[in-house]
Amino acid sequence: MTLRDLIETKRDGGHISAAEWRNFTRDVAAGTLPDYQIAALLMAIYFRGLDGDETVALMEGMLHSGRTLDLRHLATGRVDKHSTGGVGDKVSLVLAPLVASCGVVVPMMSGRGLGHTGGTLDKLESIPGFNTRLTLARATAQIEQLGCALIGQTGEIAPADKTLYALRDATATVEVIPLIAASIMSKKLAESLTGLVIDVKTGAGAFLSNQVDSITLAQTMIGLGARHHCPVVALLTNMDSPLGIACGNANEVEEAIDALKGGGPPDLRELTLRLGTEMLLLAHAAPDAVAARAQLEQAIDSGAALEKFRDIIDAQGGESRVCDEPELLLPQPAMRVPYLATKDGIVQRIDPRAIGKGITAMGGGRSGMTDILDPSVGLRITAKPGDAVQRGDMLATIEARDALCAAAGRAALDAALVIGDESVAPVVLVSHRITAAGVEQLA
Ligand code: URA
Repeated sequence: MTLRDLIETKRDGGHISAAEWRNFTRDVAAGTLPDYQIAALLMAIYFRGLDGDETVALMEGMLHSGRTLDLRHLATGRVDKHSTGGVGDKVSLVLAPLVASCGVVVPMMSGRGLGHTGGTLDKLESIPGFNTRLTLARATAQIEQLGCALIGQTGEIAPADKTLYALRDATATVEVIPLIAASIMSKKLAESLTGLVIDVKTGAGAFLSNQVDSITLAQTMIGLGARHHCPVVALLTNMDSPLGIACGNANEVEEAIDALKGGGPPDLRELTLRLGTEMLLLAHAAPDAVAARAQLEQAIDSGAALEKFRDIIDAQGGESRVCDEPELLLPQPAMRVPYLATKDGIVQRIDPRAIGKGITAMGGGRSGMTDILDPSVGLRITAKPGDAVQRGDMLATIEARDALCAAAGRAALDAALVIGDESVAPVVLVSHRITAAGVEQLA
């Protein structure tokens, strides 16, 4: 079949065979297909979906479109965490060094900002000199030495996903369960993991806004993992408002460093500990959840987690003194503008999608595949849903490079932050735990 035939088949709701998906992903990786036709197929998938066999075939095709990070010679558990994408989500920056400092191998392969969501790689690259583009050989050597590398997809790993991911971002075709599942699992299974924890973001700022779809996504990824003997645990976590305070790139690194020092916003710390607990359990590095959490807290309190981050930054060519003086070494905005409440009331909601889009408008995210980010810009939103505020109270700080950028930040906050009279139910940070054994409702 030609690519035109595949588009037509999918447009009309048909089934594409495993062999066709294999050829398609091979050709995407080879760069021989025109973007406009790939984009058309993605849009057809957006409207028609993929069945179970097609999802497996696409995932396998993307996985085998490149090489793998072969870490099977390492005796310890090899566990990674992946988030389906949110706003203010800097958990990976804290979690990877934290869990590695507890003796678990964490070959963390992350992505760039996608749609309105931020990306770990973009955040890391705000650290001067930090190189996320390690070769597989170099990543392997670093993991052998430090137990962790924070890397992006090189052309070597799941290159077909790399191309499709960027095209999905540029064509508004991200929010499709099989595409998200295949994309994430093709990268994660290329890391020869013994376990994977997935943070499935749910709510207004997630790619999937309702719990039913999020559970389906989690179960799809669990199924794909099982085919490769990789147990997957998914936590459904709240993305109805941004995580933590900082939203942007450099400001999120600063907040992550705070968290590694034992500070930072409580929701960031709690989510990191919950995900870390699952990672330690999957790696058999702790006998139970209580012991795992205590081990993680001890690694923060003793400074071991921060030291691990410092070592990783050094090994990847970055300026590790950011751990001591982040405000001096990370890119800083040209201006900081306070954003004040215009009336008395209760913060009803802070729409993360409006915040994510605002950060892109400010220059801190990508609206096209080739956009270059300004890591210094962003928003620091100190207000939380449920807070009682009075007119004139400071709700956020706009971190901008010029007046136009500040205006974009203000417009985003105006759209996102709603103050009203109703009381607001407390946020449930982690609502479900999903494993191959079933779905556990936690709250
Ligand atoms: N993260 C990924 O790696 N892929 C997606 O499609 C969405 C989030």
